[in-house]
Amino acid sequence: MATVTIKEIPTTPIEGQKTGTSGLRKKAAVFSEGNYLANWVQSLFSALGDESRGEAMVLGGDGRWFNKEASQIILKLACGNGVKKMYVGRDGYLCTPAASAVIRARKAFGGFIMSASHNPGGPNEDWGIKFNYSSGEPAPEKITDAIYGFTQTVSTLKMADIPDVDLSVCGVTKFGDFEVEVIDPVEDYLKLLKEVFDFDLIKSLLSRSDFKMQFDAMHAITGAYAKPIFVDQLGAPPSSCVNDEPKEDFAGGHPDPNLTYAEELVKVMFSASAPDFGAASDGDGDRNMILGNNFFVTPSDSVAIIAANAVECIPYFKSGLKGLARSMPTAAALDRVAAGLGVECFETPTGWKFFGNLMDAGRCSVCGEESFGTGADHVREKDGMWAVLAWLSILAYRNKDVPVGGKLVGVKEITEEHWAKYGRNFFSRYDYEGCESDPCNAMVEALRAKAASAKKGDKYGDYELDYADDFEYTDPIDGSVAKKQGVRFVFTDGSRFIFRLSGTGSSGATVRMYIEQYEADKSKQGVDAQVALAPLIKIALDTSDLEKFTGRNAPTVIT
Ligand code: G6P
Ligand code: ZN
Repeated sequence: MATVTIKEIPTTPIEGQKTGTSGLRKKAAVFSEGNYLANWVQSLFSALGDESRGEAMVLGGDGRWFNKEASQIILKLACGNGVKKMYVGRDGYLCTPAASAVIRARKAFGGFIMSASHNPGGPNEDWGIKFNYSSGEPAPEKITDAIYGFTQTVSTLKMADIPDVDLSVCGVTKFGDFEVEVIDPVEDYLKLLKEVFDFDLIKSLLSRSDFKMQFDAMHAITGAYAKPIFVDQLGAPPSSCVNDEPKEDFAGGHPDPNLTYAEELVKVMFSASAPDFGAASDGDGDRNMILGNNFFVTPSDSVAIIAANAVECIPYFKSGLKGLARSMPTAAALDRVAAGLGVECFETPTGWKFFGNLMDAGRCSVCGEESFGTGADHVREKDGMWAVLAWLSILAYRNKDVPVGGKLVGVKEITEEHWAKYGRNFFSRYDYEGCESDPCNAMVEALRAKAASAKKGDKYGDYELDYADDFEYTDPIDGSVAKKQGVRFVFTDGSRFIFRLSGTGSSGATVRMYIEQYEADKSKQGVDAQVALAPLIKIALDTSDLEKFTGRNAPTVIT
């Protein structure tokens, strides 16, 4: 077979290609200009050195604008840098958890995910790319730092002189020793989900005439998975899936599944004719939101409820949970489940990457974050579809003996039962988006100082301080230390408030204030979270002088 010519194309470094653990995110217009993407990809291969030579890698993304052109650039660079085989999702599609699943299933060296997650897409919106390693986990800082280093000196692009590959049909195309295999983006992932869940059990629920669900793909990538899974496999009527045709610009929407941005679903679920179950996923399919009939489940409660029911309702967990984990600002409902089950519960900094080591070491089965991320150790990314199927498994299990037309146990009942058993952790997050950076940094500094001088027993209104600190995490597996992860004031009854600055914003600063209060008394668990938390919210705002520092007297988003 003819050998492939590798062209050495001169290039010059482009500033600002610093890569975080969510990869590199910029405006799509920036990425699609000149060698911007090619420089970064070449730098990744330079950082990997010989590691990826002769290996197989995976490529896919959330279907946003520029993914198709980007795929061709990446394929040529992969070939030019000695990769032996690329598995590509058809049409360049792979939701983030599916990409993680494909890397694992195909024993690939790693993979590229083209996505800017929940950020809007289109020529004037965002684009992004990240690299995941062989267990399907996002690349660690060591490698992202190395990539950044190479972006500052890159001078040659090694590009194979091969034609564009047709990504619209599955099959293998060979160019000399290099091969591209276009794969069905659903297949490997579906196979894995079938190993995790009892599809017959879920089908028994979704095919009943008296149960209705609505899944909103928000015009993003989970649209490609919704029909094959919910309709074709699980017997739900096609009308159960809405906005399920992936669009390059997500139909102009902001595909972030929360009460603000998933407003279409929220309207339906909080109406007189609401379905029994509602769910949405984000742009790349790793986040999720769970709703019942006129009921919202906080992500902190969701992961706790899934964990509490996992062994009974989900075959993958039938021999028990290895451990649980949540990010620090996530409410501690999960800790109570862990205590009940007698398993370890880890409190990690914000960011999914901290769960990977625990999973690889066999110490964490289920984990979640307040930022609408829920998942398990079947992959190394958070998994929106998994969370939806986990909830459907619980609902199906609980209703398997309820005759059609009988009173179904709903999301609200399951949540309220959970609170009755474990207590309710009221939780709310206030976001102050688009603030000026300097005053926000000054506010966090001042809070840090206040926390350092605060003493056990200090009074804050009716609350008595247990401790205050700036959260620090020592990874129990590799001993690495993450400092300054959020200033928290924790009270003797377990209530707390936390302040941190978002690590994912693209301009200015976003202050996040997290408020949590525990309520064991069943008769007091039914009140609205904002009402229950009002006194503590006031104390947090007073302690932080937030209004003075930021000039804001109201948050931009409340969850
Ligand atoms: C991304 C990460 C999550 C993280 C979230 C919020 O989605 O994958 O792990 O919880 O961002 O981060 P932020 O720093 O904006 O609060
Ligand atoms: Zn995402």
